[in-house]
Amino acid sequence: MNQHKEGFTELGEKVSTLEKTLAEARDRIAALHVVQEVSQSLTSELHLQPLLHKILGSAVQVMGASAGSLILLDELTDELVFTVLEGGGGESLLGMRMARDKGIAGWVALNRQPIIVDDVHQDDRYYQAIANTISFHISSLICVPMVTRNKFIGVLELMHSETGRYFNKFDQQLLTTFASQSAIAIENARLHENLISERDYIIVVEDEIRKRLARDLHDGPTQLLASIVMSLSFTKELIKLAPAMVVGEIDQTIEVADRALKQLRTLLFDLRPVILETQGLIPALEIYAQRINEVEDFKISIVIEQEFERLSPKAEVSIFAVIQEAINNAKKYAKASEILLIFQVDKANNMMTVTTKDDGLGFDVRAVQKRYDERGSLGMINSLERADAINGTFTIHSEVGKGTQVILNFPLTENLLKQSR
Ligand SMILES: Nc1ncnc2c1ncn2[C@@H]1O[C@H](COP(=O)(O)OP(=O)(O)O)[C@@H](O)[C@H]1O
Ligand SMILES: [Mg+2]
Repeated sequence: MNQHKEGFTELGEKVSTLEKTLAEARDRIAALHVVQEVSQSLTSELHLQPLLHKILGSAVQVMGASAGSLILLDELTDELVFTVLEGGGGESLLGMRMARDKGIAGWVALNRQPIIVDDVHQDDRYYQAIANTISFHISSLICVPMVTRNKFIGVLELMHSETGRYFNKFDQQLLTTFASQSAIAIENARLHENLISERDYIIVVEDEIRKRLARDLHDGPTQLLASIVMSLSFTKELIKLAPAMVVGEIDQTIEVADRALKQLRTLLFDLRPVILETQGLIPALEIYAQRINEVEDFKISIVIEQEFERLSPKAEVSIFAVIQEAINNAKKYAKASEILLIFQVDKANNMMTVTTKDDGLGFDVRAVQKRYDERGSLGMINSLERADAINGTFTIHSEVGKGTQVILNFPLTENLLKQSR
């Protein structure tokens, strides 16, 4: 009898353990479902800020945490930045930065492993500077790395404020999966935003080119053509009234037409120097200089101090664009009489320097740079980007009254034309 009774009690205990396990399993499956759903919805959010809020908000909610933070790596400075905060009144932390190896987040960043801390106040890694910034009490926390394609992008950290509440292994598994899905979504959104800003930039640059073309066409060939039309009407009158003057008038008209033609050719070349692709940088610059010398008051000369091999198409196009912009600026602002294009090769360091030097008015580079954002011009930014594209640097030296030097410096190694053989 007793035996039976004991058997029943044992069975009863087993059943209740099983029921508990089943209930837990149900909870976990439900949580997994939520995570899966949220993860799926993340991929459709391409705007970075709303995405980040969604990630953290969902994580806090699913895990039943009191607060959380999304701490992203700033690759430029190698710092961890508190990018989004949720709950717990941690707003004072927003935007705060810390060295990549600081605190619990720093440990996770370094080891690329999740961590559960049951009592933050017993943990040496807990970063006191952060703790002092927030008024909110943190008892335990969980922190997981966000990594995509082997690239670390930040950590996701969740906290409990009530004493006695802890995160467990299952939470860790769930959050780790969620964090890697989030990392992919963040990278996608970043790529998308980069694409958009690049597209906007291209639109602005194209617009600038169109405006310049319109202005150049208006100031140059259009006016010359108008004057040709007037001369021709005048010549028509002359034939009747003073036939002796006709030849002289026609000669003058031919001269004007010739100038219009040259200007148009220069403009076309400016738009698309085909010869750059076929014959390379120096022949293209020679023709460009020759064309400009024919129509402008200043003279352009090319100085090649050391011979160099043919460069890659990207390098040639970039150098040409930087020189073109420098010449255009010299034409617009410098009142120069001479422009030198100087090519130097530093064989020991495998570096090349291309200098565009004018003997014009010069300007205060710093003052211009300071107010650059307000000016809405793109010349210098464009040149900087061109230099960047060939891993080079772009600098301007100028002083009022002492002319201007625009210097493009870049490594030759990666910018030479790779002979395919
Ligand atoms: N060679 C130069 N000589 C004198 N001033 C120059 C020269 N190059 C640039 N500048 C000055 O720097 C400014 C910025 O040039 P840039 O970035 O090309 O913009 P933008 O040509 O559209 O004004 C010019 O407006 C001009 O005042
Ligand atoms: Mg300019």
